[in-house]
Amino acid sequence: MQSSEPHEHRRTRPIRIPGDQIIEMVDRFYEKVRADKSLGPIFDEAIGDHWDEHMPKMYRFWSSVLNTSGLYSGNPMQVHMQLKTKVAPENFGEWLGLFHETLEELFSEEDTAFIFKKAENIAQSLSLGMFYNPASPHAMQDQDGNPSSKAPIR
Ligand code: HEM
Repeated sequence: MQSSEPHEHRRTRPIRIPGDQIIEMVDRFYEKVRADKSLGPIFDEAIGDHWDEHMPKMYRFWSSVLNTSGLYSGNPMQVHMQLKTKVAPENFGEWLGLFHETLEELFSEEDTAFIFKKAENIAQSLSLGMFYNPASPHAMQDQDGNPSSKAPIR
């Protein structure tokens, strides 16, 4: 039987966070990141004059994570592994702090909690990939392979 609305949207995955809000979230977050004295230089050095590619990529990434849109394709683990010598475990806590601040400015408590949980999970897997030392599971390594006393995630 034909649907009564032939042009009915067939999307089965609900849009949880609308695209314009994702763009605003990413833009605001990166404003904070670039102004941050530890994170700013890491991003600026890695991205150089490719910000016009990086930002739309991050919109697609968050659209995929939050709305399962499938718009992002890439390998964040591989990209961050290449940053291992520039990033310290404690940078993840700083990243998450700025991200949470951004979410609180824009979203309800419920959406903030939902989005932040996604970010925390990804941050944890990236930081484990970058710094976990299987020979010493209770310690995280710094960029020289020495144990870091600082927690990667706060
Ligand atoms: C200490 C924390 C972090 C730092 C310093 C960092 C830094 C960076 C930098 C510099 C790039 C650009 C690399 C390049 O294009 O050459 C990048 C890319 C990216 N980051 Fe992070 N990042 C951090 C944490 C995270 C977290 C927690 C997430 C996700 C929740 C994330 C998601 C991404 C994604 C999706 C890309 C694009 C990967 C691609 O090229 O496809 N990052 N990050």
